[in-house]
Amino acid sequence: MKRVFIHTFGCQMNVNDTMRMSEALASMKYSPTPVAENADLIILNTCSIREKAEDKMLSALGRYRQVKLQRGALIGVGGCVAQQEKNRILEKVPYVDFVFGPDAIQKLPEILQRVEADRVRVVETAWVDSESYVFPRADPSTSRGKATEFVTVMKGCDNVCSFCVVPHTRGREVSRPFTDVLTEVASLTTVGVREVTLVGQNVNSYLGGISFAQLLLRTAEVPGIERVRFTTSHPHDLSDELVEAFRLQPKIMGHFHLPVQSGSDQVLVRMRRDYTVVEYLERLAKLRAARPTIAVTTDIIVGFPGETDEDFEKTYALTEQVRYAGQFSFVYSPRPKTGAAMREAEWGSVPHEVKVARLEKLNALQKRISSELNAQQVGKTVQVLVEGSSRTDATRRFGRTEHNTTVNFDGDAPIGALVQVQLASSSAASLSGKQVSIESMPSVLIPEVAAVPEVCLT
Ligand code: 5AD
Ligand code: SF4
Repeated sequence: MKRVFIHTFGCQMNVNDTMRMSEALASMKYSPTPVAENADLIILNTCSIREKAEDKMLSALGRYRQVKLQRGALIGVGGCVAQQEKNRILEKVPYVDFVFGPDAIQKLPEILQRVEADRVRVVETAWVDSESYVFPRADPSTSRGKATEFVTVMKGCDNVCSFCVVPHTRGREVSRPFTDVLTEVASLTTVGVREVTLVGQNVNSYLGGISFAQLLLRTAEVPGIERVRFTTSHPHDLSDELVEAFRLQPKIMGHFHLPVQSGSDQVLVRMRRDYTVVEYLERLAKLRAARPTIAVTTDIIVGFPGETDEDFEKTYALTEQVRYAGQFSFVYSPRPKTGAAMREAEWGSVPHEVKVARLEKLNALQKRISSELNAQQVGKTVQVLVEGSSRTDATRRFGRTEHNTTVNFDGDAPIGALVQVQLASSSAASLSGKQVSIESMPSVLIPEVAAVPEVCLT
């Protein structure tokens, strides 16, 4: 048996891709190792969403060069940077043996055979941009031990947001047929999974034979599934039907990640986001009418080219107004071949110190709001799906509320149990309490062994 170490950067799509890589490599008798120094094969599953992610990949590659020198390990680069920068990687990093894009995961055994047998450098970055693309199906046994799992429902993105590299790295949208999604969800329940998150770059423009709202409703009806989540959505196609699904089906968890990116219409136009702040708020109001307790989170970019102090103040005011449960905010970084990068000189770059100051100000506000919202939960008893032992204190349990808030609690329920937890304290990032009852037990009891991490995330 040979060993593979996969270093995963970036989003949930990449984490899923890493799992599929491990599965494809099992057919070549590679088993995962959490230690790069023991590996015969090292794969970097890269992200190019922001400059930092790319820099991190390059410095990691530098570290793995030693393993190549000492053990003769093969090194492959996959993911979004590989897709976009294949020539640059091969030129700049002579010790990389192969480069493959997100659509070439199933070809990994073939690629490796060529590298091993012919000692040639292989590049495989063709896109499969059509409905003939077959999504790799997850092997349910790799989800053993988990109460919650991610299921890919689509790939690519047809939007044209001017800051975003994803359309260049992941190609056009292709949806997975709904029957395949439901079959995968059902197979996951056989190993104990009770919550699934449907993932795609732009899930609510799903076109896999039924609408995305119907897909959520059908997923919720799969026997054994108690909770359904999804990510990520673009505000411009948050349909009334999707809002209605929240009214109809309580198994759809009360959390909606709805990236707004900016609170200024002027910036939104340059970002090519296709909605105004008023339209965004109207959709949010409908959502809150359907599910009044829903927790809304968002993504925000500060320092987009041409963003003035006044534009930023509008983003700040929007954060106050919506009272997001949480947000991921980023400083703008120009990405190759994107519309904003090409027009940055015309619109005007925001100085780095200004970007950082805006980010800090926004983060401080969000921290206050998240702390206040979490504090309001203290004293309540809420449902939690047990995911394992707490990361900070192994004697306690860990899970999430319907709002996707982390809860650490005293209790003894096994992984996969739905429990009622009485909340005693809170912080900006999590809640703490004690288990007061077990609502339902999982149909498959999951032994708690220390899991060997299959992926290494940074
Ligand atoms: N610069 C900064 N942040 C970006 N994002 C996407 N592209 C960029 C960029 N060029 C952010 C957006 C998106 C999240 C996944 O990453 O907020 O929603
Ligand atoms: Fe990063 Fe986007 Fe690629 Fe995910 S799809 S890895 S976020 S660039």
